[in-house]
Amino acid sequence: MNKKKLYITTPIYYVNDVPHIGHAYTTIAADVLARFRRQQGYEVFFLTGTDEHGQKVEQAAQKRGEAPIALADRMSKHFSDLWEKLNISNNDFIRTTQKRHILASQTLFNTLYQKGDIYKSEYEDWYCTPCETYWTQTQFEHERDCPSCGRPTEKLKEESYFFRLSKYQQLLLDYIKSNPNFILPESRRNEVVSFIEGGLRDLSISRTSFRWGVQAPIDDKHIIYVWLDALTNYLTAAGYPDDMGRLDTLWPADVHFLAKDILRFHAVYWPAFLFSAGIKPPQQIVAHGWWTVEGQKMSKSLGNVVNPHDIIDKYGVDALRYFLLREVPFGYDGDFSLAAFIGRFNADLANDLGNLVSRSLSMMQKYYNGVIPVPCDEQGVTEGLSKVFKQVISRLPKLYDTVCFNKILIEIWEAVSAVNKYIEDMAPWILNKDELQKDKLAAVMYNIVEAIRIIGALIWPFMPDAADKIWEQLGIEVSIEGVEFEQVVSWGGLDSGLRVNKGKALFPRVEA
Ligand code: ME8
Repeated sequence: MNKKKLYITTPIYYVNDVPHIGHAYTTIAADVLARFRRQQGYEVFFLTGTDEHGQKVEQAAQKRGEAPIALADRMSKHFSDLWEKLNISNNDFIRTTQKRHILASQTLFNTLYQKGDIYKSEYEDWYCTPCETYWTQTQFEHERDCPSCGRPTEKLKEESYFFRLSKYQQLLLDYIKSNPNFILPESRRNEVVSFIEGGLRDLSISRTSFRWGVQAPIDDKHIIYVWLDALTNYLTAAGYPDDMGRLDTLWPADVHFLAKDILRFHAVYWPAFLFSAGIKPPQQIVAHGWWTVEGQKMSKSLGNVVNPHDIIDKYGVDALRYFLLREVPFGYDGDFSLAAFIGRFNADLANDLGNLVSRSLSMMQKYYNGVIPVPCDEQGVTEGLSKVFKQVISRLPKLYDTVCFNKILIEIWEAVSAVNKYIEDMAPWILNKDELQKDKLAAVMYNIVEAIRIIGALIWPFMPDAADKIWEQLGIEVSIEGVEFEQVVSWGGLDSGLRVNKGKALFPRVEA
């Protein structure tokens, strides 16, 4: 049977700086969805990478006295190394300086040109170099500071090729309105609609003021505007233009993950370029909110940028993955504070989950020498707990469809709490003292480890390391990844007779 394909992307990140928790957040979120869809049986193609052209990179390299490509090589590795450390399961890592991508950018540019959607003119406006964006007078809120990053803009005039964005205004509106799930969450969709309704101006898509980029195929004085270049990466990795057969199977992309800062580029410019090229727009664009740190904007000058390595080295990969997705409803802005991080670590991970696993396996060792017993058919011992699990599990797929990651974790923790309560209610330590209760003890202990097995499978997309360790400690030899979701979460799947091996604590408590 052919598996259903699913193509998931993150933004390709700029290489003018090293990754921080903001970049990690988007990439982890995309990874969680990719992993869950694989559990469901999809053939997932998950792409991330780096955006290496443009004036910003050229200037950053100049400042450091190195060639732009040397800077890009070094910085791009910071991203790919971090993703490896964070257990990101991407299938490809694209760099816009790769040959395959330069060809794709030039091909797309040519296609739009041949379509008659590109013309030469002169461009003059207020330019924000860090954002690589021109702004018009009417878009300013404070003085002439960039509405996106707040830094001052400067007046620039240059010969430029333009894309007939205005021509696609109605088509875009119709598309967004007739595809209610195209932009999530809904509040962000409304922003995009008002932006388009405010009127689209043609878009300058080439530059002559710097050299570090992909040369426009029709005029060697011009470099392709970094956003047209960058957005094309999603096509490049799917095979465009050399392997159109592969493109046919992978395109359209199913989910583009990003933050609100670059929503306009993805939800307006990108589909317009694709309409022009006769290529389908992506199925869905998911824009999450913005992270601050201890209540402040993350910035180098404030020195408050959170380096993911510091957190991972101290608290582990899974703790960071968990915290970022649990703390903030996806789509909302969030704040990273060490106090909140440690609070969640101790309460949710060390206490609720970690202790559950360790005390249950200790009891298993003590009462059964570590061998999972055959559950006798005891009245009234299983129903209540397995029902909670069934209910929780039935709510998850819809929450994944709407990328409500924090709600998914809340649901899973409902199951965790139910097992903790079950242990208190059933009190295996009392059953163990009574010969007449032997059958009940076997049923109860089986249920506890069975529940833990399912919890392992449920947390796997979020915390693959901890999940695998849980299964290992239960003595299960197959990998979680290898079992389809429906099957893995059905009650009763754990084999009696397996020997549990209690390992180290999953999440040892940390001091505040
Ligand atoms: O925009 N909070 O690259 P970029 C949440 N190269 N997310 C954050 C964040 C924060 N404080 N900071 C960064 C670019 N991000 C372009 C993209 S795509 C064709 C080209 C995440 O390095 C978030 O996903 O500035 C945001 O959209 C992205 O990093 C911006 O990354």
